[in-house]
Amino acid sequence: MSQQIFEPGKIWRDTKGVPINAHGGGLLCHEGVVYWYGEHKIEGEAGNRAHVGVHVYSSADLYNWKDEGIALRVSDEPGHDIETGCILERPKVIHNAATGKFVMWFHLEKKGCGYDTASSGVAVADQPTGPFSYVRAIRPNAGVFPLNDSPALHTPCLAEGGFTGDHPLPRLNVVESNIFRRDLEEGQMARDLNLFVDDDGKAYHIYSSEENSTLHISELDAAYLAPSGRFARLFAGRYMETAAVFKRGGYYYLIASGCTSWEPNAARCAIARNIMGPWYEMENPCRGVNPQNGFGPDKTFGAQSTYVHKLHGRDDAFIAMFDIWNPDNAIDGRYVWLPVTFEDDHGFLIHWRDTWDLSVFE
Ligand code: DGJ
Repeated sequence: MSQQIFEPGKIWRDTKGVPINAHGGGLLCHEGVVYWYGEHKIEGEAGNRAHVGVHVYSSADLYNWKDEGIALRVSDEPGHDIETGCILERPKVIHNAATGKFVMWFHLEKKGCGYDTASSGVAVADQPTGPFSYVRAIRPNAGVFPLNDSPALHTPCLAEGGFTGDHPLPRLNVVESNIFRRDLEEGQMARDLNLFVDDDGKAYHIYSSEENSTLHISELDAAYLAPSGRFARLFAGRYMETAAVFKRGGYYYLIASGCTSWEPNAARCAIARNIMGPWYEMENPCRGVNPQNGFGPDKTFGAQSTYVHKLHGRDDAFIAMFDIWNPDNAIDGRYVWLPVTFEDDHGFLIHWRDTWDLSVFE
Protein backbone atom coordinates (compact mmCIF):
# COMPACT_ATOMS: atom_id res chain seq x y z
CA MET A 1 0.00 0.00 0.00
CA SER A 2 1.44 3.34 -0.91
CA GLN A 3 2.36 5.87 1.75
CA GLN A 4 1.16 9.49 1.56
CA ILE A 5 2.70 11.06 4.68
CA PHE A 6 6.07 11.55 6.34
CA GLU A 7 6.37 10.19 9.88
CA PRO A 8 9.63 11.60 11.30
CA GLY A 9 11.49 9.20 13.58
CA LYS A 10 9.28 6.19 12.78
CA ILE A 11 10.55 3.14 10.90
CA TRP A 12 10.30 3.99 7.18
CA ARG A 13 9.83 0.98 4.90
CA ASP A 14 10.68 0.68 1.22
CA THR A 15 8.15 -0.50 -1.38
CA LYS A 16 8.91 -4.13 -0.42
CA GLY A 17 8.29 -3.47 3.28
CA VAL A 18 11.97 -3.52 4.32
CA PRO A 19 13.19 -0.65 6.55
CA ILE A 20 15.10 1.88 4.42
CA ASN A 21 18.84 1.57 4.97
CA ALA A 22 20.35 4.88 3.78
CA HIS A 23 21.81 6.75 6.75
CA GLY A 24 23.66 10.08 6.62
CA GLY A 25 22.01 10.42 3.25
CA GLY A 26 21.32 12.90 0.52
CA LEU A 27 18.96 13.18 -2.44
CA LEU A 28 19.49 13.77 -6.16
CA CYS A 29 16.65 14.62 -8.52
CA HIS A 30 17.32 13.45 -12.08
CA GLU A 31 14.81 13.34 -14.93
CA GLY A 32 11.82 13.46 -12.60
CA VAL A 33 13.04 10.69 -10.31
CA VAL A 34 14.52 11.33 -6.89
CA TYR A 35 17.38 9.11 -5.71
CA TRP A 36 18.22 8.69 -2.02
CA TYR A 37 21.83 7.67 -1.30
CA GLY A 38 22.98 6.74 2.18
CA GLU A 39 25.17 4.54 4.34
CA HIS A 40 24.04 0.92 4.37
CA LYS A 41 24.42 -0.09 8.00
CA ILE A 42 24.38 -3.54 9.58
CA GLU A 43 23.19 -4.60 13.04
CA GLY A 44 25.07 -3.83 16.22
CA GLU A 45 28.04 -1.61 16.94
CA ALA A 46 29.82 -3.09 13.89
CA GLY A 47 27.34 -1.18 11.77
CA ASN A 48 29.28 2.01 12.45
CA ARG A 49 31.82 0.75 9.91
CA ALA A 50 31.13 0.00 6.24
CA HIS A 51 30.47 -3.65 5.45
CA VAL A 52 28.34 -3.22 2.35
CA GLY A 53 28.60 0.27 0.87
CA VAL A 54 26.27 3.02 -0.28
CA HIS A 55 22.61 2.08 -0.72
CA VAL A 56 20.40 3.84 -3.29
CA TYR A 57 16.59 4.07 -3.47
CA SER A 58 14.38 5.81 -6.03
CA SER A 59 11.05 7.59 -5.72
CA ALA A 60 8.64 9.63 -7.79
CA ASP A 61 6.80 11.16 -4.80
CA LEU A 62 9.34 11.27 -1.91
CA TYR A 63 7.08 9.08 0.27
CA ASN A 64 7.50 5.68 -1.42
CA TRP A 65 11.03 4.41 -2.07
CA LYS A 66 12.07 1.52 -4.28
CA ASP A 67 15.26 -0.33 -3.37
CA GLU A 68 17.72 0.13 -6.25
CA GLY A 69 20.50 -1.83 -4.55
CA ILE A 70 24.07 -0.95 -3.66
CA ALA A 71 25.38 2.00 -5.68
CA LEU A 72 28.98 1.77 -4.41
CA ARG A 73 30.22 -1.49 -2.92
CA VAL A 74 33.11 -1.69 -0.46
CA SER A 75 36.09 -3.77 -1.59
CA ASP A 76 37.25 -7.23 -0.42
CA GLU A 77 40.80 -6.37 -1.41
CA PRO A 78 43.07 -6.01 1.64
CA GLY A 79 44.51 -2.52 1.88
CA HIS A 80 42.04 -1.00 -0.57
CA ASP A 81 40.99 2.52 0.43
CA ILE A 82 37.36 1.39 0.72
CA GLU A 83 38.11 -2.06 2.14
CA THR A 84 35.28 -3.70 4.10
CA GLY A 85 35.51 -2.33 7.64
CA CYS A 86 36.52 1.18 6.62
CA ILE A 87 34.37 4.11 7.74
CA LEU A 88 32.37 5.43 4.79
CA GLU A 89 29.94 8.14 5.83
CA ARG A 90 27.55 10.75 4.43
CA PRO A 91 27.63 9.89 0.69
CA LYS A 92 26.27 12.61 -1.58
CA VAL A 93 25.76 12.42 -5.35
CA ILE A 94 25.56 15.21 -7.93
CA HIS A 95 25.12 15.05 -11.70
CA ASN A 96 27.56 16.79 -13.99
CA ALA A 97 25.63 17.99 -17.03
CA ALA A 98 28.81 18.58 -19.06
CA THR A 99 30.38 15.13 -18.58
CA GLY A 100 27.10 13.26 -18.11
CA LYS A 101 28.61 11.53 -15.06
CA PHE A 102 27.09 11.02 -11.63
CA VAL A 103 29.71 11.95 -9.05
CA MET A 104 29.66 10.70 -5.47
CA TRP A 105 31.67 12.20 -2.60
CA PHE A 106 31.81 10.63 0.86
CA HIS A 107 33.71 10.89 4.13
CA LEU A 108 36.32 8.13 4.15
CA GLU A 109 38.40 6.78 7.01
CA LYS A 110 40.65 3.87 6.09
CA LYS A 111 40.11 0.54 7.84
CA GLY A 112 41.72 0.31 11.26
CA CYS A 113 42.64 4.00 11.44
CA GLY A 114 39.78 5.30 13.56
CA TYR A 115 38.95 8.80 12.35
CA ASP A 116 42.60 9.73 11.58
CA THR A 117 42.44 9.54 7.76
CA ALA A 118 39.96 12.45 7.59
CA SER A 119 39.65 12.27 3.81
CA SER A 120 36.97 12.57 1.12
CA GLY A 121 36.40 9.69 -1.28
CA VAL A 122 35.20 10.18 -4.85
CA ALA A 123 33.38 7.70 -7.10
CA VAL A 124 31.69 8.03 -10.52
CA ALA A 125 28.93 6.31 -12.45
CA ASP A 126 27.11 6.59 -15.78
CA GLN A 127 23.73 5.90 -14.18
CA PRO A 128 22.23 7.38 -11.01
CA THR A 129 21.80 3.91 -9.51
CA GLY A 130 25.41 3.02 -10.31
CA PRO A 131 27.44 0.96 -10.19
CA PHE A 132 29.79 3.68 -8.99
CA SER A 133 33.52 3.14 -9.54
CA TYR A 134 35.86 4.31 -6.83
CA VAL A 135 38.25 7.02 -8.09
CA ARG A 136 40.40 8.15 -5.15
CA ALA A 137 40.49 9.70 -1.70
CA ILE A 138 41.87 13.15 -1.11
CA ARG A 139 42.64 15.65 1.56
CA PRO A 140 41.62 18.83 -0.24
CA ASN A 141 43.53 21.96 -1.09
CA ALA A 142 47.12 20.85 -0.44
CA GLY A 143 49.46 23.82 -0.66
CA VAL A 144 46.65 26.36 -1.08
CA PHE A 145 45.68 29.24 1.20
CA PRO A 146 41.98 30.17 1.41
CA LEU A 147 40.27 33.13 -0.23
CA ASN A 148 39.82 34.59 3.25
CA ASP A 149 43.50 34.20 4.08
CA SER A 150 44.93 35.91 7.17
CA PRO A 151 48.45 36.45 8.53
CA ALA A 152 47.69 34.04 11.41
CA LEU A 153 47.45 31.15 8.92
CA HIS A 154 51.07 31.72 7.91
CA THR A 155 52.47 31.23 11.41
CA PRO A 156 53.84 27.82 12.51
CA CYS A 157 51.44 25.18 13.86
CA LEU A 158 51.69 25.31 17.64
CA ALA A 159 49.40 22.37 18.40
CA GLU A 160 51.01 19.51 20.26
CA GLY A 161 50.61 16.02 18.79
CA GLY A 162 48.11 13.53 20.11
CA PHE A 163 45.01 14.31 18.10
CA THR A 164 43.63 10.84 17.66
CA GLY A 165 40.49 11.71 15.81
CA ASP A 166 38.46 10.32 18.69
CA HIS A 167 35.26 12.05 19.62
CA PRO A 168 34.64 14.31 21.39
CA LEU A 169 37.69 16.14 20.16
CA PRO A 170 39.73 18.41 22.34
CA ARG A 171 38.65 21.99 21.73
CA LEU A 172 41.55 23.96 20.29
CA ASN A 173 42.23 27.62 20.12
CA VAL A 174 42.29 27.51 16.34
CA VAL A 175 44.03 30.82 15.87
CA GLU A 176 46.87 29.96 18.24
CA SER A 177 47.23 26.32 17.26
CA ASN A 178 46.96 26.86 13.49
CA ILE A 179 46.05 23.29 12.52
CA PHE A 180 45.51 24.70 9.03
CA ARG A 181 49.26 25.27 8.71
CA ARG A 182 50.04 21.76 9.99
CA ASP A 183 48.02 20.25 7.11
CA LEU A 184 48.95 22.74 4.39
CA GLU A 185 51.42 20.53 2.53
CA GLU A 186 49.48 17.24 2.68
CA GLY A 187 45.98 18.69 2.29
CA GLN A 188 43.31 19.68 4.76
CA MET A 189 41.34 17.25 6.92
CA ALA A 190 37.86 16.55 5.56
CA ARG A 191 35.40 14.70 7.79
CA ASP A 192 31.59 15.23 7.63
CA LEU A 193 30.86 16.47 4.13
CA ASN A 194 28.15 17.73 1.85
CA LEU A 195 27.84 18.89 -1.75
CA PHE A 196 25.95 21.81 -3.23
CA VAL A 197 25.44 22.69 -6.92
CA ASP A 198 24.74 26.36 -7.60
CA ASP A 199 22.51 27.79 -10.34
CA ASP A 200 25.56 28.42 -12.53
CA GLY A 201 26.53 24.73 -12.40
CA LYS A 202 29.46 25.28 -10.04
CA ALA A 203 29.65 22.62 -7.35
CA TYR A 204 30.94 22.99 -3.82
CA HIS A 205 32.35 20.52 -1.30
CA ILE A 206 31.62 21.52 2.30
CA TYR A 207 33.48 19.64 5.04
CA SER A 208 34.55 19.72 8.68
CA SER A 209 38.27 20.43 8.75
CA GLU A 210 41.14 21.35 11.07
CA GLU A 211 40.28 18.65 13.67
CA ASN A 212 36.61 19.51 13.10
CA SER A 213 37.12 23.01 14.48
CA THR A 214 36.42 24.82 11.20
CA LEU A 215 34.23 24.31 8.14
CA HIS A 216 35.71 24.65 4.69
CA ILE A 217 33.69 25.35 1.57
CA SER A 218 35.66 24.38 -1.47
CA GLU A 219 34.70 24.90 -5.11
CA LEU A 220 35.04 21.78 -7.28
CA ASP A 221 36.60 21.70 -10.74
CA ALA A 222 34.44 21.53 -13.87
CA ALA A 223 34.23 17.72 -13.73
CA TYR A 224 33.30 17.78 -10.00
CA LEU A 225 36.15 15.34 -9.34
CA ALA A 226 38.66 17.56 -7.50
CA PRO A 227 38.94 20.93 -5.76
CA SER A 228 39.37 23.93 -8.06
CA GLY A 229 41.68 25.59 -5.54
CA ARG A 230 39.18 28.28 -4.48
CA PHE A 231 37.99 27.73 -0.93
CA ALA A 232 37.07 29.57 2.25
CA ARG A 233 37.41 28.78 5.95
CA LEU A 234 34.17 29.35 7.87
CA PHE A 235 33.17 29.50 11.54
CA ALA A 236 36.71 28.89 12.80
CA GLY A 237 36.62 27.33 16.26
CA ARG A 238 32.85 26.67 16.17
CA TYR A 239 33.23 22.87 15.74
CA MET A 240 30.42 22.44 13.25
CA GLU A 241 29.66 19.09 11.63
CA THR A 242 27.41 17.93 8.84
CA ALA A 243 26.74 21.30 7.23
CA ALA A 244 24.07 21.27 4.51
CA VAL A 245 23.86 24.26 2.15
CA PHE A 246 20.78 25.38 0.24
CA LYS A 247 19.80 28.50 -1.66
CA ARG A 248 16.59 30.53 -1.79
CA GLY A 249 15.88 33.96 -3.23
CA GLY A 250 19.54 34.84 -3.76
CA TYR A 251 20.56 33.89 -0.20
CA TYR A 252 22.66 30.89 0.74
CA TYR A 253 21.64 29.06 3.90
CA LEU A 254 23.39 26.48 5.95
CA ILE A 255 22.26 24.13 8.72
CA ALA A 256 24.82 22.18 10.72
CA SER A 257 25.31 20.44 14.05
CA GLY A 258 27.85 20.88 16.80
CA CYS A 259 30.45 18.18 17.35
CA THR A 260 29.47 15.57 19.97
CA SER A 261 30.08 12.20 18.29
CA TRP A 262 26.79 10.27 17.93
CA GLU A 263 25.07 12.35 20.62
CA PRO A 264 22.62 15.01 19.53
CA ASN A 265 23.32 18.69 20.13
CA ALA A 266 21.78 22.03 19.14
CA ALA A 267 21.61 22.81 15.42
CA ARG A 268 23.47 25.79 13.99
CA CYS A 269 22.39 27.83 11.01
CA ALA A 270 23.78 30.67 8.93
CA ILE A 271 23.07 32.90 5.95
CA ALA A 272 25.25 34.48 3.25
CA ARG A 273 24.90 36.51 0.06
CA ASN A 274 28.06 34.98 -1.36
CA ILE A 275 28.70 31.26 -0.93
CA MET A 276 32.35 31.96 -0.06
CA GLY A 277 31.21 34.32 2.69
CA PRO A 278 30.94 36.26 4.78
CA TRP A 279 28.47 33.92 6.48
CA TYR A 280 26.42 35.15 9.43
CA GLU A 281 25.35 32.72 12.12
CA MET A 282 21.70 32.92 13.17
CA GLU A 283 19.68 31.37 15.99
CA ASN A 284 19.00 27.66 16.29
CA PRO A 285 16.18 27.15 13.74
CA CYS A 286 14.52 24.20 15.48
CA ARG A 287 11.20 24.50 17.31
CA GLY A 288 9.05 21.99 19.19
CA VAL A 289 9.68 18.63 20.83
CA ASN A 290 9.94 15.12 19.44
CA PRO A 291 7.55 13.17 21.71
CA GLN A 292 9.28 9.90 20.84
CA ASN A 293 12.37 10.87 22.84
CA GLY A 294 11.46 14.16 24.56
CA PHE A 295 14.20 16.05 22.72
CA GLY A 296 13.61 19.64 21.63
CA PRO A 297 15.73 22.29 19.90
CA ASP A 298 18.71 22.01 22.26
CA LYS A 299 19.15 18.45 20.96
CA THR A 300 17.71 18.91 17.44
CA PHE A 301 14.84 16.47 18.22
CA GLY A 302 17.52 13.84 19.02
CA ALA A 303 18.80 14.07 15.45
CA GLN A 304 21.65 15.47 13.35
CA SER A 305 21.31 17.22 10.00
CA THR A 306 22.43 15.48 6.83
CA TYR A 307 20.97 17.27 3.79
CA VAL A 308 18.45 19.86 2.64
CA HIS A 309 16.44 18.92 -0.44
CA LYS A 310 14.90 21.53 -2.73
CA LEU A 311 11.69 20.24 -4.29
CA HIS A 312 11.98 19.89 -8.04
CA GLY A 313 10.48 22.86 -9.88
CA ARG A 314 9.94 24.86 -6.69
CA ASP A 315 11.89 27.91 -5.54
CA ASP A 316 10.61 27.95 -1.99
CA ALA A 317 9.98 24.36 -0.88
CA PHE A 318 12.76 22.65 1.06
CA ILE A 319 12.91 19.51 3.19
CA ALA A 320 15.54 19.32 5.93
CA MET A 321 16.78 15.76 6.45
CA PHE A 322 18.24 14.49 9.73
CA ASP A 323 19.37 11.19 11.26
CA ILE A 324 18.64 9.88 14.73
CA TRP A 325 21.72 7.73 15.34
CA ASN A 326 21.76 4.45 17.21
CA PRO A 327 25.47 3.62 17.52
CA ASP A 328 24.76 0.42 19.53
CA ASN A 329 22.57 -0.94 16.75
CA ALA A 330 23.51 1.20 13.77
CA ILE A 331 20.96 -0.28 11.35
CA ASP A 332 18.17 1.08 13.55
CA GLY A 333 19.09 4.73 13.01
CA ARG A 334 15.95 6.68 12.09
CA TYR A 335 15.19 9.41 9.58
CA VAL A 336 13.65 12.77 10.38
CA TRP A 337 12.46 14.83 7.42
CA LEU A 338 10.83 18.17 8.18
CA PRO A 339 9.75 21.14 6.06
CA VAL A 340 11.73 24.37 6.22
CA THR A 341 9.71 27.56 6.72
CA PHE A 342 11.10 30.99 5.98
CA GLU A 343 10.76 34.14 8.06
CA ASP A 344 10.35 37.73 6.89
CA ASP A 345 13.83 38.66 8.10
CA HIS A 346 15.33 35.92 5.89
CA GLY A 347 15.79 33.49 8.76
CA PHE A 348 14.33 30.00 8.59
CA LEU A 349 12.66 27.63 11.04
CA ILE A 350 12.20 23.88 11.31
CA HIS A 351 9.21 22.85 13.41
CA TRP A 352 8.80 19.32 14.74
CA ARG A 353 5.80 17.52 13.22
CA ASP A 354 4.56 14.05 14.18
CA THR A 355 3.27 13.59 10.63
CA TRP A 356 3.10 15.83 7.58
CA ASP A 357 2.76 15.79 3.83
CA LEU A 358 3.80 17.88 0.85
CA SER A 359 0.60 19.95 1.00
CA VAL A 360 2.38 22.10 3.62
CA PHE A 361 4.17 23.70 0.66
CA GLU A 362 0.94 24.73 -1.12
C1 DGJ B 1 29.27 12.70 13.96
C2 DGJ B 1 29.24 12.64 12.48
O1 DGJ B 1 28.30 13.55 12.00
C3 DGJ B 1 28.90 11.24 12.03
O2 DGJ B 1 28.82 11.18 10.64
C4 DGJ B 1 29.96 10.33 12.57
O3 DGJ B 1 31.21 10.66 11.99
C5 DGJ B 1 30.04 10.44 14.08
N1 DGJ B 1 30.28 11.81 14.46
C6 DGJ B 1 31.12 9.56 14.63
O4 DGJ B 1 31.32 9.79 16.00
